Amino acid sequence: MAESGFVKVAEVGEISPGDMKVVEVGEDQILLVNVEGNIHACDDICSHAYASLSEGDLNGDEIECPLHGSAFNIITGEALTPPAEDSIRVFEVRIEGQDVLVGPAKG
Ligand code: FES
Repeated sequence: MAESGFVKVAEVGEISPGDMKVVEVGEDQILLVNVEGNIHACDDICSHAYASLSEGDLNGDEIECPLHGSAFNIITGEALTPPAEDSIRVFEVRIEGQDVLVGPAKG
């Protein structure tokens, strides 16, 4: 574990723009997404029921849950369409050299 709770989870070259990758940090399953060159981190597990958002469709900064179709904003975590009502968590991301580090949940 790096300083202040940030932990290396991937390398920048593993996630091209429009790509995503699931990593595990402690007990959390976290989805890394490259949105137009910027890597964001959010919960991989949907807030509605148990589904991996990484198996859904990515469209810019939105991802659609594969199970019931709720869309989430990857950058804010906001649930955009029902049936999900609760946001997913989004996490701090830091790039150090080629390393992608994930930190605490935002907010
Ligand atoms: S599990 Fe994701 S919308 Fe139901």
